[in-house]
Amino acid sequence: MDRPDPMKPLGGRERPNGGEPAGAIEASGADQDPGVLTRAISAQLRTARFGRPLHVYASAGSTNDLARELAAAGAGEGTAVIALEQVEGRGRLGRRWISPPGGLYLSVVLRPTFPRRRWPLIGLACALGAAAAVEAHTRQSREAGRGRPEGRDASVRVKWPNDVLLGGGKVGGILVEVVGDAAVCGIGLNLTASPRSGTRSGPSEAAYLATRNPAVSVAAVAPDVLFECERRYLALEGDPGAMLAEWRARTATLGRSVRVTGAEPIEGIAEDIDADGALLVRTAAGIRRVLAGDVVIARWY
Ligand code: BTN
Repeated sequence: MDRPDPMKPLGGRERPNGGEPAGAIEASGADQDPGVLTRAISAQLRTARFGRPLHVYASAGSTNDLARELAAAGAGEGTAVIALEQVEGRGRLGRRWISPPGGLYLSVVLRPTFPRRRWPLIGLACALGAAAAVEAHTRQSREAGRGRPEGRDASVRVKWPNDVLLGGGKVGGILVEVVGDAAVCGIGLNLTASPRSGTRSGPSEAAYLATRNPAVSVAAVAPDVLFECERRYLALEGDPGAMLAEWRARTATLGRSVRVTGAEPIEGIAEDIDADGALLVRTAAGIRRVLAGDVVIARWY
C-alpha cells in the first residue's frame, strides 16, 4: 500500500479536541518511526483480529479515510491503520480532530455480523475499551510511584455517545463510519500535548494522559486499546448486556441534567441507554429517545 505524502501543516484557526495543552512533551522512540512502531505494537498484540494486519504511517490526512479505502477494497475485519500525525483528522458532527505527533490516531475495519440498528453500540464499546486502556496506563504510573496496586480509577469515565474523559476533561473520542457492509471505527486519544494541540473548543476541556503518566507512548497504549476494544466489540456478536452494564457503571452522563444538541435540542435528565445504544432522556414531555447528537452536562451550560 502506498504511503500518503506528508501534507501541509495545520494552519488558520486550529480547533482542538478540548482545552489548553498540558505542556509540550515530544514523542520519542518508537513513536517517531513507522517501521519501529509497527514492530513494537505487533510484538505486544494480544488480539485475534484487531491490528491484524497493522499499517502505520508517518503522516496521514485521516486514518479513517485510509481504513475506508481498505474496507472498500475488501480488507478483512481487524485491519488497522495508525498515523503518527493526521493533518485532516475528523471528529464527530463535522468537527476537526487536531492530531499532532504524540497522540494515538487509530482506525479499525469492522465487518459486524449483528443487525445494523445495533451498530451504534460499536462506538460505546470502543469508548469503554479506550477508557479501560487509559485507566491501565494511569494505574501503571500510580503503581510505579507508590509501589502498590490500586483499584479502579474513577476519574476515567465515558460520556454519551463516545467520549472518553479523564478527570472531567476529554482525553479521547470515537468516530464510527459506515462503508457499505463494513464499518470503520476511528479512535483518537490525547496522550502528550504538543505546541500544536491547540486551544479550547467545545463544552469540555481537553485532557492528556501524559499528565498522569509522563512515560506514556503510542507504542505502549496502542496494543491495550486494540485488545480492550476488540474484547468489547466481539461481545456485541452475542448479548450486549454486559457491555451496557459496564457502560452504565463508567458513565458520566446518566442521572445528570443534560442538553442534547442537534436539529431539535432536548433538555432533561439522562435516564438510561437502551439495547441499541440510544440515550433515554426524561423531559417535561416524557421520555425522548436520542440516537445522535452531542450531550452537554448541566455544569457546562
Ligand atoms: C470525536 O469527535 O470525539 C471523535 C474523534 C475521533 C478521532 C479519530 S483519530 C483516528 C480517526 N481518524 C480520524 O480522522 N478521526 C478518528
